[in-house]
Amino acid sequence: MKHLIPEFERMKTRLPPGHDATLLVPCLRRIQEDRGFIDNSDIDGLVEYLGIPRIQIEEVLSFYGMLRRKPIGRWHLQVCRNVSCSMRGAERLIDELIGKLGVQPGETTADGRFTLSTVECLGSCGTAPVVMVNEAYHENLSAADLDALLERLD
Ligand code: FES
Repeated sequence: MKHLIPEFERMKTRLPPGHDATLLVPCLRRIQEDRGFIDNSDIDGLVEYLGIPRIQIEEVLSFYGMLRRKPIGRWHLQVCRNVSCSMRGAERLIDELIGKLGVQPGETTADGRFTLSTVECLGSCGTAPVVMVNEAYHENLSAADLDALLERLD
C-alpha cells in the first residue's frame, strides 16, 4: 500500500487537522480497488500511517461486507437473498449458480473466474431478484437471464 500514500496524503488535505482516522474506510476501499483485497500487510501499513489501533481496523473490516480479506475471482457474483429477492426467486438463482459453478456461497471456482456470494439487500428491492456482478446490477433476473449473463462473462 505504500505506493498509495501520495493519494492518501491528498485525501488528508481535505480534512480538518487531527481527523486522520476518518480516512480509514476511504484508504481501505482504495487498497481493495488496487489489489482486489486487503492483506495483513495493508493493515500493518495503516496502523503505522493512520496511527490507529489494529483492532479498530479489524472491526471496520468485519463490519463492512464489501471489504474483502482474501482474493476473489474475476467475476464476483453477489446474489441478494433478502426478503424481496427471496420472494421473487433468489433462492432458485443461488441453487442454479451452485450447480453451474460447482461452488458454494463464499467460494471461488478453481479456475479463478467466479466467486459466488450471497448478500443482504442491495437496495433495489423493486427490481428483485437482483444479482450484482462486480460493480453492475442485473435486475428482474430470471433463470434464463442468468444463463445468458454467465455466457457473456469470459
Ligand atoms: S431484497 Fe434484494 S435488493 Fe432489496
